[in-house]
Amino acid sequence: MSRPPFQLAPLDSTHDRAAFNGDSEPLNRYLREQVTQDVRRRVAACFVALADAKRIAGYYTLASASLLLTDLPVSTGKKLPRYPTVPAVRMGRLAVDKEFKGQGLGGALLADALNRVAGSQIAAFALMVDAKNEAAADFYRHHGFIALPDSRRTLFLPLATVRTS
Ligand SMILES: CC(C)(COP(=O)(O)OP(=O)(O)OC[C@H]1O[C@@H](n2cnc3c(N)ncnc32)[C@H](O)[C@@H]1OP(=O)(O)O)[C@@H](O)C(=O)NCCC(=O)NCCS
Repeated sequence: MSRPPFQLAPLDSTHDRAAFNGDSEPLNRYLREQVTQDVRRRVAACFVALADAKRIAGYYTLASASLLLTDLPVSTGKKLPRYPTVPAVRMGRLAVDKEFKGQGLGGALLADALNRVAGSQIAAFALMVDAKNEAAADFYRHHGFIALPDSRRTLFLPLATVRTS
């Protein structure tokens, strides 16, 4: 039987954060213990994919960030204004519950984040991520992210290439 589609929404207090069980314990703990404080302090925004009214199947966070122009690949940097930094949005966390892995949800959350950021009235040159391990970096490369030449675990995707819906 096929599952109903997930609903994407900003995290709110009716969602069951305690039941979330992804592969990464730090990411489970972050959702359980830290995220609401970060949202309240406006240091992160959190969006969830809901399997039903309360059940969180996956989540991601976004916050504003910047990239040093000199850290970008030369071919990218030379097309940008000569300011020391370029505006970016960081996807600080992305996780899918074990029960929902491998069904396209990670990709759908990433697409939702790209759509949200590229569709914003506040400009950012790229969505960036700090991949926590090689498997995560592979996931982002698979989706077109480019690694910084001197920091291969930091990857970015220029938003001008993203078509918004
Ligand atoms: C990484 C993660 C979010 C992927 O979620 P998922 O729902 O299992 O992934 P999807 O089913 O959406 O996969 C989407 C695509 O990415 C590919 N993919 C998934 N994991 C991959 C990996 N580690 N390396 C390369 N490609 C990967 C899939 O093959 C699929 O490709 P396709 O669209 O061409 O068929 C999930 O495995 C997870 O929560 N991991 C632990 C936390 C983590 O590493 N977070 C990353 C941020 S640091």
